Amino acid sequence: MIVSTIILAAGQGTRMRSNLPKVLHRLAGRPLIDYSLRAAAHVGNDIPVVVTGYGADAVRAEVGQRARFVTQVRQLGTAHAVMAAEALLNGQSDLVVVVSADMPLLSVETLHRMVEIQSINTGPVTILTILSQDSHGFGRVLRAENGSVKAIVEEAHATPEQLALEELNAGAYCFSAGWLWPALHQVRVSPKGEYYLTDTVEIAVKQGLRVDACQLADPSEAIGINTRLHLAEAEALLRMRINSHWMLAGVTIVDPSTTYIEPDVKLGQDTIIYPGTHLQGVTEIGQGCILGPNAMIRSSNIGNACKIESSALEKSVVEDEVKIGPFCNLGPGAHLAGRVVIGHSVEVRDSYLAPGVKIGHSCFLGDATVGENTIVGAGTVTCNLDQSVRHPTEIEAGVSLGSNTVLVAPVKIGDGGRTGAGAVVTDDIPPHTLVKGVPARRAVGKQELGG
Ligand code: UD1
Ligand code: CA
Repeated sequence: MIVSTIILAAGQGTRMRSNLPKVLHRLAGRPLIDYSLRAAAHVGNDIPVVVTGYGADAVRAEVGQRARFVTQVRQLGTAHAVMAAEALLNGQSDLVVVVSADMPLLSVETLHRMVEIQSINTGPVTILTILSQDSHGFGRVLRAENGSVKAIVEEAHATPEQLALEELNAGAYCFSAGWLWPALHQVRVSPKGEYYLTDTVEIAVKQGLRVDACQLADPSEAIGINTRLHLAEAEALLRMRINSHWMLAGVTIVDPSTTYIEPDVKLGQDTIIYPGTHLQGVTEIGQGCILGPNAMIRSSNIGNACKIESSALEKSVVEDEVKIGPFCNLGPGAHLAGRVVIGHSVEVRDSYLAPGVKIGHSCFLGDATVGENTIVGAGTVTCNLDQSVRHPTEIEAGVSLGSNTVLVAPVKIGDGGRTGAGAVVTDDIPPHTLVKGVPARRAVGKQELGG
């Protein structure tokens, strides 16, 4: 059984009041359309077809290779939108699943269930429905005495009795492909001037064919994003879904309502997350970490037993047993090896810190490599930028830098080298040598270090 998938994304989403096409608004860090793309890719046997219209170029640029595209030049309704995919899909599959790009919470399991029901249905279509007293403006589902679906009536055209019905059309469908394509041509224009996909139900019923329904157990899956209020509602629902998953997997989340974990984040057991923490992008956190309050970690890899307090990390790698913060800014390109300790208000970017390095507060390290067990005094900075050219700083193992050391790159400090407080280092320091002053000079006499 070959299943094709169509994602409807041509509408402008007027009620979002936005210059951005609706499906590019972000939910948990990802554009809305990503969610239906992922679900469709799981359910279908071929690459999903996205129907674009308003903002087509922007939508295509975002989706890229993950879909095939057809254009609906004028948005004349959902049936008209599906028809735009006919040339591409007619004769290519047994079943066609149609979903909207503005329904991001529909799960893969639900779509699979809908496909299963349709694959044993004697008739040509199965629709997804929900039971809810709050109509959300959804179409009402009319049932025949034998339980099959008789019609879907749009809210704008429903009678008072129909408006009272509590079974609603969620807006996802599974069609028998051989029936769908010719049936679309029989859909007549509605009083509102649109061709409704929902009218295919009555077409089937008139032909004496059975329309089945797949009822959603969890109506929150059917939330459709029409306004920014819905977007925030979906965000809260998704946040709870993700946070519940991690709590059941052994992560302590002190306050799930203020903990923001994006879908591509992975967390290890016995990690504890304090409020105000944001974990974003493709990020992996090891076991037994303590994050937050107010940690912001994006596209980073954190090892086991790390403690990260009130700090921002981006595109960084942190190995085991590292302590960071509060108020640090790491990355892009910060790599902290095991047992590194970073005091408050430290910035590190494009730098490697070897195991056991300790950095005092208020430091800046850029384009630096720092050897094992080196101690960097408070207020130390690398001057790595010369106009727009960046220069490296190489600090070897066991070095000790006094407070407020200024390292004018390019510069190298040999193993066991030392600087006095306030030294401005403009030349390389040989191993086991102490330098002091401005500019820093080799200290003599009893201050000379032993080899
Ligand atoms: C639709 C259903 C309604 C259902 C609801 C569930 C119809 C006629 N009505 O209503 O029964 O309860 O979804 O969410 O289908 N689109 C296009 N081209 C168009 C028109 C729409 O691509 O010409 C796309 C939109 O971008 C959107 C989707 O189709 O992704 C649904 O369209 P929308 O206008 O939101 O339909 P609803 O009024 O929500
Ligand atoms: Ca809608």
